[in-house]
Amino acid sequence: MSDPSALTTEALAAIAQAPGEDALAKVELEYLGRKSGRVSRLLANIGQLPPAEKAALGKAANEAKRAIEAALAARRAELEQARLADLAETEAIDVTFPGPPLGRGHIHVLTQVRRQIETVLESLGYQVELGPEVETEWYNFEALNITAGHPARENWDSFYFSPELLLRAHTSPVQIRAMQRIKEPPIYIITPGRCYRRDAPEATRLPYFSQVEGLAVDRGMTVGDMKGTLLYMIQSLYGADRKVRVRPSYFPFTEPSFEFDVSCGICGGMGCKSCRHKGWLEVGGCGMVHPQVLRNGGIDPSQWNGYAWGFGIERMAMLKHDVDDIRLFYEPDLRFLEQF
Ligand code: PHE
Repeated sequence: MSDPSALTTEALAAIAQAPGEDALAKVELEYLGRKSGRVSRLLANIGQLPPAEKAALGKAANEAKRAIEAALAARRAELEQARLADLAETEAIDVTFPGPPLGRGHIHVLTQVRRQIETVLESLGYQVELGPEVETEWYNFEALNITAGHPARENWDSFYFSPELLLRAHTSPVQIRAMQRIKEPPIYIITPGRCYRRDAPEATRLPYFSQVEGLAVDRGMTVGDMKGTLLYMIQSLYGADRKVRVRPSYFPFTEPSFEFDVSCGICGGMGCKSCRHKGWLEVGGCGMVHPQVLRNGGIDPSQWNGYAWGFGIERMAMLKHDVDDIRLFYEPDLRFLEQF
C-alpha cells in the first residue's frame, strides 16, 4: 500500500493533467471519496497500529487530503480562467463590424406638399415670409379689418395668452408684417406656417393646421391675375387637367372675396362620392386686398392694389393624395406615413 506522500504526488500529477471538470471530479472521487477514496482507505487499518504510528499516519493522511483539495481548487480556477479567455476570444464583439442597417425615414407628407407649393410660387417670383405663431390681437384681427366685436371674429377664434396675445388663427398677420417691412411694392410673398383655431378635432378640421397664404401688391392688379396665378399653382401641383373656379364669398380683409374650388381629381368634375357629387373641392379663400388692409400695412391704396389667398396645406395634401381624414397627418402611424 502506498504511503500518504506517494499518494499525494500521484494525485497532484493527475490533477495537473486533468483536461476539464469531468476529469477533475473523477480524480476527486478516486482520492477523496468518503468510503472508497484512496486517502480514506489508508486509514482503514489504523486501529491495529501502535499509538505513535496511529497519530503520525492520521496527521499525514490529513495533510495529503488538504494538499489534494488545494490542488483541485487551484486547477479548477485555472480551467475557469482558460474558459473565460477562450470565450473572450471567440465571442468578442467586433466594434468595427457594420451594424444592421437602420430604417431610414423621409420627409413628412405635409412638408413635401409645403415645399412643392413653395417651389412653384418661387418660380413665379414669390418670396417666402415667416412670422410669429404667437401674435398680437392687432396683427391677427384689427390690421386685417376684423374689428373688435365684428361677428366675423368668431371664424378665427383661437387660444389666448392674454387679451392682447394669442396663437395666430391664420398666416395673414405675416402679410401685414411683410408690407410694413418691405414698404415699397411690388410685393410678391407667400406665408407658410402653423395656425391655430378653437375647433374640436374631426375628420376635416383640427385645432392646429398649416396654411400657405399669398399676397401680391402691384399696380393695376385684377381678379384675372389672381385666378391665373392660382390656376398655375394648382395645375403644377395636381396636373394640367385640373380646372379651378371662384365663388363669391366674404372676408373682412378682401373685397371682392371668393371661395376657391378645384375640380375633383377622382371624377374629373362629373361628381362622385369623394367630392360629395359636386365635382368641385374647396381649397380656401381669396380676393382683392381691402384698401384698409393695405393702409394698415403702410401702403397707399390709391397707388397700389393687390390680391391675396389662403389655402390649408393639409387640405391641399388631402386633395393630392385622396386622404379623407386630416387627423392621419398628425398621428404616428407608419402604415399611413410611409405611403408618401
Ligand atoms: N386668412 C383667411 C383664412 O385663414 C384666408 C384668406 C386669405 C382668404 C387671404 C382670403 C384672402 O381663413
